[in-house]
Amino acid sequence: MKPISLTFAGLGKGIPQTVVTNQDLAESLDTSDEWITARTGIKSRRILEDDKALSYLAIKAGRQALEMAGLPASDIDLVIVATVTPDTFMPATACRVAHALGCQNAGAFDLNIACSGFLYGILTTIAQMESGLVQNVLLIGGDTLSRIVDWTDRRTAVLFGDCAGAAVLTRRGAGQILGYDYGADGSAGSALKIEAGPSNPSDCDKDYKVTMDGRAVFRFAAGAIVNSCRRSLDMAGLTIDDVDLIIPHQANLRIIESAAKKLRCPIDKFFMNLDKYGNTSAGSIPVALTEAHEEGRLQPGSRVLLTGFGGGLSWGSVLLGWPA
Ligand code: ACO
Repeated sequence: MKPISLTFAGLGKGIPQTVVTNQDLAESLDTSDEWITARTGIKSRRILEDDKALSYLAIKAGRQALEMAGLPASDIDLVIVATVTPDTFMPATACRVAHALGCQNAGAFDLNIACSGFLYGILTTIAQMESGLVQNVLLIGGDTLSRIVDWTDRRTAVLFGDCAGAAVLTRRGAGQILGYDYGADGSAGSALKIEAGPSNPSDCDKDYKVTMDGRAVFRFAAGAIVNSCRRSLDMAGLTIDDVDLIIPHQANLRIIESAAKKLRCPIDKFFMNLDKYGNTSAGSIPVALTEAHEEGRLQPGSRVLLTGFGGGLSWGSVLLGWPA
């Protein structure tokens, strides 16, 4: 395909201060640091303080991304917040964030596709840019899954954490989208779900807790991200050897190791911070991207492959040409 102009002009993150280690969890749950580390690679996670909501993290991340981009908030045409844990169903968290940051000329909406949200947000952004609707977009991915985890269920409670990451995306600049892929398979959706929903009469008395068939999600994820990466690379006419850095959804070290093996790619090409934060859903990829930038791993001219999966079940990949 012909590359599409898109530059990541600014990056930012909002991370809660409260750290919960595996040992902390083992005090109240029938689990252990050994089990969690061996099965997931996670050592600790951050949990948002009780008196705050997702918008607190999203605003923090968004402000940092705007500062790095050096762009006035009034130049932002659209604010997207990808999340399954909005402050409220209405107004959208994106409206709160746009208001708090002074993006008074921007449209704003939330995007609900779980851990794939940031990737879907990039593709939504390029569609809007290519059609001429927008020039500058503030895209935020974030979740506070700690609020909807059943803390008595060891199969899910140990996996998740809270955070938000942000990017200022602009048509100007030398950055490019070289390939992409996304999709969803609703037939497998019950493997990872929040049962309750305001318009679902049969489920209206259920509470808003995450339930998951971990093995089914694992099998799906290990195949989905490999196929999705391959489709993005094929679109660009490139191979995995042409990629400098892969930023995967930070769900589980074993899923990433399995993908690396199937793609025949050295594991050190995969950026990882899941040991510190656990699975932070829509926040995972933008926070990893921000930390990759902080660590100097996004060099001018490098090719960066973002890839992930999540509730839906859904998946996505975006191959970036980082600005020269
Ligand atoms: N501590 C100790 N033992 C545990 C724990 C725990 N926290 N959780 C489960 N176990 C036990 C189980 O009860 C089971 O015991 P049994 O054999 O006596 O029945 C045993 O450990 C093995 O359980 P499995 O579920 O088979 O363990 P598995 O190796 O599959 O690991 C895990 C579980 C980590 C959840 C894995 O399946 C996984 O990572 N799946 C993908 C999850 C994922 O990525 N979810 C996020 C999707 S993204 C999004 O949109 C939010």
